[in-house]
Amino acid sequence: MPMSWQRTHTCGELRRSHVGAKVTLNGWVNARRDHGGIYFLDLRDRYGLTQVVLDERLAAGVRFGPEYVLSVRGVVRAREGAQVNSERATGEIELVAESLEVLSSSPVPPIDISGATETALETRLKYRYMDLRRPQMQRNLEHRSRFINAMRRAFERQNFIEVETPILTKATPEGARDYLVPSRVHPGEFYALPQSPQIFKQILMVAGLDRYFQVARCFRDEDLRADRQPEFTQLDMEMSFVEEEDVFAAWERVMKETFADALGVELTTPFPRMRWEEAMERFGVDKPDLRFGLELRSVDAWARASEFTVFRGAVEAGGRVMGLAVPAQHALSRKDITELETVAKGIGAKGLAWWKAGAAGGSGPLAKFCASAEAAGALMAALGAAEGDTCLFIADKQSLTRKVLGELRNQLGRRLGLIPKEQRWAFTWVTHFPLFEWDEDAQRYFSAHHPFTAPEDWSLGGAMDGREPDLGALSSRAYDLVLNGWELGSGSVRIHRADVQQKVFSMLGIGPEEQQRKFGFFVEALAYGAPPHAGFALGLDRTSALTLGLDNIRDVIAFPKTASASDLMCGAPSLVDASQLAEVHVASTAPRP
Ligand code: AMO
Ligand code: AMP
Repeated sequence: MPMSWQRTHTCGELRRSHVGAKVTLNGWVNARRDHGGIYFLDLRDRYGLTQVVLDERLAAGVRFGPEYVLSVRGVVRAREGAQVNSERATGEIELVAESLEVLSSSPVPPIDISGATETALETRLKYRYMDLRRPQMQRNLEHRSRFINAMRRAFERQNFIEVETPILTKATPEGARDYLVPSRVHPGEFYALPQSPQIFKQILMVAGLDRYFQVARCFRDEDLRADRQPEFTQLDMEMSFVEEEDVFAAWERVMKETFADALGVELTTPFPRMRWEEAMERFGVDKPDLRFGLELRSVDAWARASEFTVFRGAVEAGGRVMGLAVPAQHALSRKDITELETVAKGIGAKGLAWWKAGAAGGSGPLAKFCASAEAAGALMAALGAAEGDTCLFIADKQSLTRKVLGELRNQLGRRLGLIPKEQRWAFTWVTHFPLFEWDEDAQRYFSAHHPFTAPEDWSLGGAMDGREPDLGALSSRAYDLVLNGWELGSGSVRIHRADVQQKVFSMLGIGPEEQQRKFGFFVEALAYGAPPHAGFALGLDRTSALTLGLDNIRDVIAFPKTASASDLMCGAPSLVDASQLAEVHVASTAPRP
């Protein structure tokens, strides 16, 4: 038997067919309007809003305000004519209250739940339980849940099994700092929270599990941005006896089924594949937004023959000159160009050269080098530009040239409205990433993906036979899945040979002693009959946000952290008692406040 106050229906449920029924609703007071002697309030729960009508006697008998929790018992009445609210599922009825009980009270809400006025982010995070009452936030979490569940079903249909891997573990390098947990039982020793389940999922392949997946929580102590949280969720997977195309096919099927199931969107598969080198050359970035053109073009040949010393000098020094042509219909003003130059310089460019294309020399700083019809024609041809287009150029080291123009392209795409309004799903696989990347600051090579990624050439450019290859030139079998300019996920074919794995560690400057200490158990596992294997991990927060059209993953995470990795609601991180620290054999060097 339900208690007398318990609901018979939700606040989103009542329709015209319920007219005359005696019902009880439970929910939060969304808004209250007094119309001289007759009172209206909207009662809200996760399912919707229902208008409740109170007469003077009832209204006078109880005191309540916004966000109080009420139980209202009454009779469903039809609304007619202008009273009907067609924007609301329950808009054809209202509940005429006969009795009303306050189940819970509330101080004045710090947040406007209706969302009509914007609330400061700090307040939203501190009172997250209020923020999450907003219907939009509830829709976001429902969407995320639908997405995850659809994906789980899609993996199960392909015979993947879900396995949970440890949270208290040893460091798995993914390029960020580890979160450490001190051990009480082993003085001076620490667990690391996993940056990803990478090592465990590979060991599951060695164990013969064949097809694994997991909705996996990952922890990374790194600089946070709109698309990065210190803890986040991956849809992680691994497969045995496969190569790139098998992983792509498995994911294309999963994505197609998940999008259909959770969003009602028909995706076209297979997704295009593009080599990393091509993505970098055409779009300047490894996560190209394919929803618009404005591609980068090489102007090296033209630059080499030109009198412009900035350009010729860059090419002669082994760098690049690249440009892009903004079509004449999107006339860029001098002010626009100056702003773009500021952006370019902010990323490290020395300047931004420009040319308004014209067969007779055009205008802008480059015009004097295009005085001959031949020079102007050649430059237009190199850029694929038409008369009147505004052409922008960067001359620098190849990596910087691409980076700056890639960023300008993305900004122009947004500013000029080149991205079609109707949501288009421009997926692409980017393949053949470099194996190693040079880090200027650290003055050493790092893995472009992670150290478990297979090289394209198992001899590692001869390194397996004692030669010393150019590390920067080695290509890998890593791939990313990109959607609309976002990296949704990454993966690779793995190294399944212990000797190659050891060699890659040494190439990364990890000596035998350190290898043994950090990865000895893993290399040993590889030695015991590791099948060839490959895998991938999709960022679930990013995918949920992107499919909702949100640009910050915070809005699809129930309890996210701030840019400084704090939880403002519970106040984490926080100081702990000295006795607790002593118990885990830790002494803090931080000054006490
Ligand atoms: P990677 O480090 O590229 O690969 O991570 C895979 C995907 O996880 C998401 N992601 C994040 N999302 C939110 N906040 C973060 N801080 C964050 N970091 C990463 C991204 C990213 O594409 N073990 C490998 C996968 C593999 O090789 O199978 C890995 O973790 O969407
Ligand atoms: P300068 O001859 O140095 O006055 O430069 C002429 C134009 O070239 C100006 O518009 C500069 O912004 C631009 N410029 C200078 N250096 C570079 C560079 N490395 N790449 C692209 N444009 C540049």
